[in-house]
Amino acid sequence: MAITVAKRVTFNSAHRLYNPHWDNETNDRIFGLCNNPSFHGHNYDLIIKVKGPIDPITGFVVDVKELKELAEKYICHKYDHTNLNLDHPEFNQEQGGVNPTVENIAKVCYDALRPHLPKHLKLSLVLYETPRNFVEYDGEE
Ligand code: NI
Repeated sequence: MAITVAKRVTFNSAHRLYNPHWDNETNDRIFGLCNNPSFHGHNYDLIIKVKGPIDPITGFVVDVKELKELAEKYICHKYDHTNLNLDHPEFNQEQGGVNPTVENIAKVCYDALRPHLPKHLKLSLVLYETPRNFVEYDGEE
């Protein structure tokens, strides 16, 4: 049997969505208000789901306290109250980073957490950019 444990964490970050190879008109058409050169912010809600068997000794799938510490260290403390484009090379397209869309942020968060969890546990993330817009990623290529 397997059961899913979930932990919800939050971080607030600024970003700008654009493609540096396009002119501003094209960026405006594709990204709309999200292309604002002055940036804008979101309250990101990240739900971390860990699926696996219940450990017969602890009764846990994963210790949620440890999961919280991992999320704080590798995601929340890193990104909270920062500018994703300017403060983090992974989202700085001039430095080879990716456009900080909610899809790309979820992938970066997944890749940051995955190495720190036991291999037999399945990880998936749900990342809300707004209460109505969210993505889900489970590491599938
Ligand atoms: Ni945005």
